[in-house]
Amino acid sequence: VIDIRSLYAQTGCFTYDPGFTSTASCTSKITFIDGDAGVLLYRGYPIEQLAEKCDFLEVCYLLLNGDLPNGAEMKGFVTTISQHVMVHEQLAKFYSGFRRDAHPMAVLVGVVGALSAFYHDVMDITCKEDRYISAIRLIAKMPTMVAMCYKYSIGMPFIYPKRKLGYAENFMRMMHGDPGEDYLANPVLMRALDRILILHADHEQNASTSTVRLAGSSGANPYACVAAGIACLWGAAHGGANEAVLNMLEEIGDVSRIGEYVAKAKDKNDPFRLMGFGHRVYKNYDPRAKLMRQTCHEVLDELNLNDDRLFKLAMELERIALEDSYFVEKKLYPNVDFYSGIVLRALGIPTEMFTAIFALARSVGWIAQWDEMISDPELKIGRPRQLYRGVTTRDVKPISAR
Ligand code: ACO
Repeated sequence: VIDIRSLYAQTGCFTYDPGFTSTASCTSKITFIDGDAGVLLYRGYPIEQLAEKCDFLEVCYLLLNGDLPNGAEMKGFVTTISQHVMVHEQLAKFYSGFRRDAHPMAVLVGVVGALSAFYHDVMDITCKEDRYISAIRLIAKMPTMVAMCYKYSIGMPFIYPKRKLGYAENFMRMMHGDPGEDYLANPVLMRALDRILILHADHEQNASTSTVRLAGSSGANPYACVAAGIACLWGAAHGGANEAVLNMLEEIGDVSRIGEYVAKAKDKNDPFRLMGFGHRVYKNYDPRAKLMRQTCHEVLDELNLNDDRLFKLAMELERIALEDSYFVEKKLYPNVDFYSGIVLRALGIPTEMFTAIFALARSVGWIAQWDEMISDPELKIGRPRQLYRGVTTRDVKPISAR
């Protein structure tokens, strides 16, 4: 690691690194990735153990506070979260300003950004307690707001959260339950959703988290910064990949057509890429993808969907790609979103909601990273340099002479 700040101070030299392939923008104690070994740790704990032994709210506590909670701490955390699950009635009105066929991510950018208009008065970002409560509010309200995006899109009334229900169960009830009726949650499916949330909770300086940090470095309201993160997540190269994978599998349609699509992905004159393959940091199997594939098996077993057409297609596509020298040489493995869409689909979540669920999960990572950045005594406004390649100085001629 080279810290080039002193070199810049002495000589004015700076690095040119489009896409930040080799530039650290910050130090962090939250998430560690070893991309060559396929290792992912949250606060030092391996993702495999967290996915097996913890639920999403324990992981939220971990990311925010630095360690796993004991029983009493967890009870307090769950109670605090449950006190903040409702959204302001005025916020609920924002939804009706959108077209019903708007993409849920477009609506989510708007409504999460609008939270900044509701909590600006108690938001002193230099105050640790204010930052903590803003994180709690975000984690608590995201399932409510994401489910409202879905209900609005299908023209159904909103279902309000129930304080006594677990996090995943509450979300599924708001998505698919009937108002006034009990929601019969299947524990295997709830565990699968919880695992999706854990696996997506944080991933160090990915594009959306870096966006949240950059926006926050100016001192902006945290909900406005998270809205910026949601906008960045939407793209198919990032969080939008889960939706794009399902659409791609549907388009391939049959195992007999896999060869044609693998050839397209290798063709440098064709912009097509295998969605759900490749990662900037993992040059080995994404550990989250392994867990996601296992979760996929569990869910399809539970629902007697072992013959699921898209799952079989996905596994065959993975097998063919991983035997192909192009993918082997470029170290392109399935990433977390290759299998997450199949799980979400089996849970009855419509494809266009997939990225919004990624946003719901990643919110804790965004706000934990924002909090870490604001409390850093070395905080500086993020201000990348550029390599100017435009014309050199020239004189303006009068318009008649141009
Ligand atoms: N299919 C075919 N070729 C690919 C793929 C792919 N999915 N991904 C990368 N490549 C090739 C590129 O064409 C490039 O080839 P070249 O060296 O001959 O030019 C090489 O592999 C390196 O690719 P880059 O785009 O330079 O790698 P980068 O680190 O910038 O991009 C990314 C990573 C964006 C994830 C890329 O692999 C991709 O577009 N994947 C598909 C989209 C996707 O699944 N995104 C989800 C990422 S994980 C997440 O956000 C949760």
